[in-house]
Amino acid sequence: MIKEAYVHAQVAQLKEALRTDFLGHEIRYFKQTDSTNTQAMTWAEEGAPEGSLVIAEHQTQGRGRQGRAWESKGSQNLLFSLILRPNLSPSHLSLLTIITSLSVAEAIQEVTTPLPVLIKWPNDILLNQKKCCGVLIETAHSTAQPQVVVGIGINVNQASFSEGISHKATSLLLETGRHADRLQLLARILLRLEHYYKALDEETAPIFIDKYTQTLAYLNESINLRQHGTENFRQGIIRGISASGALLFETNQGLETLHAGEVTTNDQIDH
Ligand code: BTN
Repeated sequence: MIKEAYVHAQVAQLKEALRTDFLGHEIRYFKQTDSTNTQAMTWAEEGAPEGSLVIAEHQTQGRGRQGRAWESKGSQNLLFSLILRPNLSPSHLSLLTIITSLSVAEAIQEVTTPLPVLIKWPNDILLNQKKCCGVLIETAHSTAQPQVVVGIGINVNQASFSEGISHKATSLLLETGRHADRLQLLARILLRLEHYYKALDEETAPIFIDKYTQTLAYLNESINLRQHGTENFRQGIIRGISASGALLFETNQGLETLHAGEVTTNDQIDH
């Protein structure tokens, strides 16, 4: 099929599956682009309607958190970004991380049951203790209202990973043995996320924090926390999540509230 016809068919199929009021109603679908987050930020600054969706089959410069690259084989996974303009105070913006992780984890759980899906703080989704999804939320304050781009990468039907990451990365296919319909999964995620996004405010936040905590990996377990940009690891126990989405981390110096860092277990530390 020629490229335009393929893209057209994919967009039509997605629109058919979507049950949302506004999320994903405007779509830019790329066979290949640099990064859906980059495209979405440019589109947001040009005035894209809230809820607009950028999706790609392949990214040449897919980005992860902390300046890492996001590796994904073409046309097997989900790579997408949403434009949001949340009505939240800056101190509550991290609640977006909470509802995004929750929506994705719950939608993945629907297709992977009975395998448990857990969230590794702040927003990695784990299947059988390996990462199958990452979220990169970027905010631009160049306009009066902040423009937020929520970028999500899910390893859906990828059957193998490069040697450097295969000990910690997985896909839905690898864990369940079944191929999943990518666009159906995307439609499920958008429906959940829209529902949570509409309900989210400073009063309802504790409900989401509670749900998130019930899905949290390594709760009450000892982990190593890597400080961003360093090779410094601190050992402690995850005790939960604060009202603003920070990690409650108990060390021998007491209980700390941490806004950044990377949770690792001994077998996940990169050498
Ligand atoms: C992470 O776990 O480090 C976050 C990974 C986020 C990857 C997604 S793929 C779609 C969107 N576009 C990007 O360049 N990154 C995000």
